[in-house]
Amino acid sequence: MANTAKRKSSQSKVPQNEGDVKAFWDDQAKQHGSSDLATNPDTHYRSLEIESILRVISALKHETILDVGCGNGYTTRTIAKKFPEAEVSGVDFSESMINEATRLVTPNTDFHIADILSLSRSKGLRERRYDIVLSTRCLINLANWEEQKVGILEMRKMLVPDGRLILVENVQDGLDNLNDLRGKLGLGPIKGNKGAFADH
Ligand SMILES: C[S@@+](CC[C@H](N)C(=O)[O-])C[C@H]1O[C@@H](n2cnc3c(N)ncnc32)[C@H](O)[C@@H]1O
Repeated sequence: MANTAKRKSSQSKVPQNEGDVKAFWDDQAKQHGSSDLATNPDTHYRSLEIESILRVISALKHETILDVGCGNGYTTRTIAKKFPEAEVSGVDFSESMINEATRLVTPNTDFHIADILSLSRSKGLRERRYDIVLSTRCLINLANWEEQKVGILEMRKMLVPDGRLILVENVQDGLDNLNDLRGKLGLGPIKGNKGAFADH
Protein backbone atom coordinates (compact mmCIF):
# COMPACT_ATOMS: atom_id res chain seq x y z
CA MET A 1 0.00 0.00 0.00
CA ALA A 2 2.82 2.39 0.85
CA ASN A 3 4.24 1.74 -2.59
CA THR A 4 0.84 2.49 -4.14
CA ALA A 5 0.63 5.82 -2.32
CA LYS A 6 4.07 6.73 -3.60
CA ARG A 7 3.09 5.88 -7.15
CA LYS A 8 0.00 8.02 -6.98
CA SER A 9 1.66 11.05 -5.49
CA SER A 10 4.43 10.96 -8.09
CA GLN A 11 2.06 10.79 -11.04
CA SER A 12 -1.06 12.64 -10.06
CA LYS A 13 -0.10 16.06 -11.42
CA VAL A 14 0.30 16.00 -15.18
CA PRO A 15 1.17 19.57 -16.21
CA GLN A 16 -0.73 21.75 -18.67
CA ASN A 17 1.65 23.03 -21.35
CA GLU A 18 3.46 20.90 -23.93
CA GLY A 19 7.03 21.54 -22.74
CA ASP A 20 6.08 20.64 -19.21
CA VAL A 21 4.12 17.60 -20.38
CA LYS A 22 7.21 16.28 -22.16
CA ALA A 23 9.41 17.03 -19.13
CA PHE A 24 6.90 15.20 -16.93
CA TRP A 25 7.04 12.04 -19.06
CA ASP A 26 10.84 12.23 -19.41
CA ASP A 27 10.99 12.31 -15.63
CA GLN A 28 8.59 9.36 -15.30
CA ALA A 29 10.90 7.33 -17.59
CA LYS A 30 13.94 8.29 -15.51
CA GLN A 31 12.16 7.38 -12.27
CA HIS A 32 10.56 4.10 -13.36
CA GLY A 33 12.71 2.86 -16.26
CA SER A 34 11.06 0.11 -18.26
CA SER A 35 8.47 -0.66 -15.55
CA ASP A 36 4.75 -0.47 -16.36
CA LEU A 37 4.52 2.07 -13.51
CA ALA A 38 6.19 4.73 -15.69
CA THR A 39 2.95 5.29 -17.57
CA ASN A 40 0.19 3.94 -15.33
CA PRO A 41 0.26 3.55 -11.55
CA ASP A 42 -2.70 1.11 -11.56
CA THR A 43 -1.54 -2.39 -12.50
CA HIS A 44 -5.11 -3.83 -12.38
CA TYR A 45 -6.37 -1.18 -14.80
CA ARG A 46 -3.34 -1.89 -16.99
CA SER A 47 -4.02 -5.66 -17.16
CA LEU A 48 -7.65 -5.09 -18.15
CA GLU A 49 -6.59 -2.50 -20.71
CA ILE A 50 -4.02 -4.80 -22.33
CA GLU A 51 -6.44 -7.75 -22.28
CA SER A 52 -9.01 -5.66 -24.21
CA ILE A 53 -6.42 -4.35 -26.68
CA LEU A 54 -5.13 -7.85 -27.45
CA ARG A 55 -8.69 -9.13 -27.93
CA VAL A 56 -9.51 -6.35 -30.42
CA ILE A 57 -6.21 -6.74 -32.31
CA SER A 58 -6.68 -10.50 -32.66
CA ALA A 59 -10.00 -9.91 -34.44
CA LEU A 60 -8.40 -7.58 -37.03
CA LYS A 61 -5.76 -7.85 -39.73
CA HIS A 62 -2.60 -7.13 -37.77
CA GLU A 63 0.52 -7.71 -39.83
CA THR A 64 1.73 -4.19 -39.05
CA ILE A 65 0.86 -2.23 -35.90
CA LEU A 66 1.85 1.30 -34.78
CA ASP A 67 1.55 2.27 -31.09
CA VAL A 68 1.39 6.08 -30.82
CA GLY A 69 2.46 7.62 -27.49
CA CYS A 70 3.93 4.22 -26.58
CA GLY A 71 5.80 5.45 -23.49
CA ASN A 72 8.55 3.01 -22.49
CA GLY A 73 7.00 0.37 -24.78
CA TYR A 74 5.44 -1.79 -22.06
CA THR A 75 2.18 -2.31 -23.98
CA THR A 76 3.99 -2.34 -27.36
CA ARG A 77 6.21 -5.20 -26.22
CA THR A 78 3.27 -7.15 -24.84
CA ILE A 79 1.53 -6.85 -28.21
CA ALA A 80 4.72 -7.88 -30.06
CA LYS A 81 5.12 -10.97 -27.87
CA LYS A 82 1.48 -11.97 -28.31
CA PHE A 83 1.66 -11.54 -32.11
CA PRO A 84 5.24 -12.57 -33.05
CA GLU A 85 4.27 -12.66 -36.73
CA ALA A 86 3.38 -8.94 -36.64
CA GLU A 87 5.76 -5.96 -37.08
CA VAL A 88 5.10 -3.60 -34.19
CA SER A 89 6.39 -0.02 -34.09
CA GLY A 90 6.18 2.40 -31.18
CA VAL A 91 6.53 6.20 -31.18
CA ASP A 92 6.63 8.75 -28.39
CA PHE A 93 7.79 12.36 -28.14
CA SER A 94 9.68 11.68 -24.91
CA GLU A 95 13.28 10.77 -25.71
CA SER A 96 13.71 9.19 -22.28
CA MET A 97 10.68 6.95 -22.81
CA ILE A 98 12.03 5.83 -26.20
CA ASN A 99 15.48 5.22 -24.67
CA GLU A 100 13.83 2.84 -22.20
CA ALA A 101 11.79 1.21 -24.96
CA THR A 102 14.82 0.56 -27.17
CA ARG A 103 16.69 -1.15 -24.32
CA LEU A 104 14.22 -4.04 -24.50
CA VAL A 105 13.36 -4.42 -28.18
CA THR A 106 12.07 -7.78 -29.39
CA PRO A 107 12.90 -8.98 -32.94
CA ASN A 108 9.59 -7.65 -34.25
CA THR A 109 9.60 -4.18 -32.62
CA ASP A 110 11.15 -0.81 -33.50
CA PHE A 111 10.83 2.50 -31.68
CA HIS A 112 11.06 6.13 -32.85
CA ILE A 113 10.87 9.61 -31.36
CA ALA A 114 7.92 11.44 -32.94
CA ASP A 115 5.20 13.90 -31.98
CA ILE A 116 1.64 12.75 -32.64
CA LEU A 117 0.93 16.21 -34.09
CA SER A 118 3.39 15.65 -36.96
CA LEU A 119 3.42 11.87 -37.10
CA SER A 120 3.02 11.42 -40.85
CA ARG A 121 5.99 13.74 -41.53
CA SER A 122 8.37 12.23 -39.01
CA LYS A 123 11.61 10.49 -39.89
CA GLY A 124 11.37 6.69 -39.92
CA LEU A 125 7.59 6.76 -40.26
CA ARG A 126 6.60 8.94 -43.19
CA GLU A 127 7.09 6.11 -45.74
CA ARG A 128 5.25 3.52 -43.66
CA ARG A 129 1.58 2.57 -43.33
CA TYR A 130 -0.01 0.21 -40.82
CA ASP A 131 -2.93 -2.24 -40.59
CA ILE A 132 -3.59 -0.99 -37.07
CA VAL A 133 -2.73 2.29 -35.37
CA LEU A 134 -3.23 2.15 -31.60
CA SER A 135 -3.05 4.99 -29.10
CA THR A 136 -3.43 4.45 -25.37
CA ARG A 137 -3.92 7.49 -23.12
CA CYS A 138 -1.84 9.79 -25.35
CA LEU A 139 -4.54 12.11 -26.75
CA ILE A 140 -5.48 13.14 -23.23
CA ASN A 141 -2.06 14.81 -22.94
CA LEU A 142 -2.77 17.27 -25.74
CA ALA A 143 -3.75 20.83 -24.94
CA ASN A 144 -7.27 20.95 -26.37
CA TRP A 145 -9.78 19.38 -28.77
CA GLU A 146 -8.22 21.21 -31.74
CA GLU A 147 -4.89 19.46 -31.12
CA GLN A 148 -6.63 16.17 -30.43
CA LYS A 149 -8.34 16.39 -33.85
CA VAL A 150 -4.93 16.98 -35.49
CA GLY A 151 -3.55 13.95 -33.61
CA ILE A 152 -6.44 11.74 -34.72
CA LEU A 153 -6.07 12.84 -38.36
CA GLU A 154 -2.31 12.26 -38.24
CA MET A 155 -2.88 8.73 -36.94
CA ARG A 156 -5.44 8.13 -39.68
CA LYS A 157 -2.83 9.11 -42.29
CA MET A 158 -0.61 6.28 -41.01
CA LEU A 159 -3.20 3.61 -41.87
CA VAL A 160 -3.36 1.43 -44.98
CA PRO A 161 -6.63 2.05 -46.88
CA ASP A 162 -8.65 -0.54 -44.92
CA GLY A 163 -6.70 -0.10 -41.68
CA ARG A 164 -8.17 0.36 -38.21
CA LEU A 165 -7.55 2.99 -35.53
CA ILE A 166 -7.87 1.81 -31.91
CA LEU A 167 -8.15 4.59 -29.33
CA VAL A 168 -8.03 3.90 -25.60
CA GLU A 169 -8.56 7.01 -23.47
CA ASN A 170 -9.66 8.14 -20.04
CA VAL A 171 -13.03 9.81 -20.57
CA GLN A 172 -15.28 11.85 -18.30
CA ASP A 173 -18.34 9.57 -18.79
CA GLY A 174 -16.42 6.55 -17.53
CA LEU A 175 -15.25 8.47 -14.48
CA ASP A 176 -18.80 9.72 -13.80
CA ASN A 177 -20.18 6.17 -14.00
CA LEU A 178 -17.47 4.87 -11.69
CA ASN A 179 -18.17 7.66 -9.18
CA ASP A 180 -21.93 6.90 -9.27
CA LEU A 181 -21.11 3.32 -8.37
CA ARG A 182 -18.67 4.39 -5.65
CA GLY A 183 -21.34 6.69 -4.21
CA LYS A 184 -23.79 3.76 -3.97
CA LEU A 185 -21.15 1.82 -2.05
CA GLY A 186 -20.51 4.74 0.33
CA LEU A 187 -17.10 5.56 -1.19
CA GLY A 188 -15.93 9.08 -2.01
CA PRO A 189 -15.50 10.20 -5.64
CA ILE A 190 -12.25 9.89 -7.58
CA LYS A 191 -11.28 13.35 -8.81
CA GLY A 192 -10.55 13.76 -12.50
CA ASN A 193 -7.18 15.10 -13.59
CA LYS A 194 -5.77 16.24 -16.91
CA GLY A 195 -3.43 13.53 -18.17
CA ALA A 196 -3.43 9.85 -17.53
CA PHE A 197 -3.89 9.72 -13.80
CA ALA A 198 -6.83 10.17 -11.50
CA ASP A 199 -5.94 11.74 -8.17
CA HIS A 200 -7.33 9.10 -5.78
C1 LIG B 1 -0.20 7.82 -20.13
S1 LIG B 1 1.26 7.59 -21.07
C2 LIG B 1 0.76 6.14 -21.95
C3 LIG B 1 1.91 5.40 -22.53
C4 LIG B 1 1.56 4.09 -23.24
N1 LIG B 1 0.59 4.31 -24.28
C5 LIG B 1 1.07 3.09 -22.25
O1 LIG B 1 -0.09 2.71 -22.32
O2 LIG B 1 1.86 2.66 -21.41
C6 LIG B 1 1.15 8.87 -22.30
C7 LIG B 1 2.33 8.89 -23.25
O3 LIG B 1 2.03 9.80 -24.30
C8 LIG B 1 3.21 10.48 -24.64
N2 LIG B 1 2.86 11.74 -25.30
C9 LIG B 1 2.24 12.82 -24.76
N3 LIG B 1 2.08 13.79 -25.67
C10 LIG B 1 2.62 13.32 -26.84
C11 LIG B 1 2.78 13.86 -28.14
N4 LIG B 1 2.39 15.11 -28.42
N5 LIG B 1 3.34 13.09 -29.10
C12 LIG B 1 3.79 11.83 -28.80
N6 LIG B 1 3.70 11.27 -27.57
C13 LIG B 1 3.11 12.00 -26.60
C14 LIG B 1 3.93 10.67 -23.32
O4 LIG B 1 5.32 10.93 -23.49
C15 LIG B 1 3.63 9.34 -22.61
O5 LIG B 1 4.64 8.40 -22.84
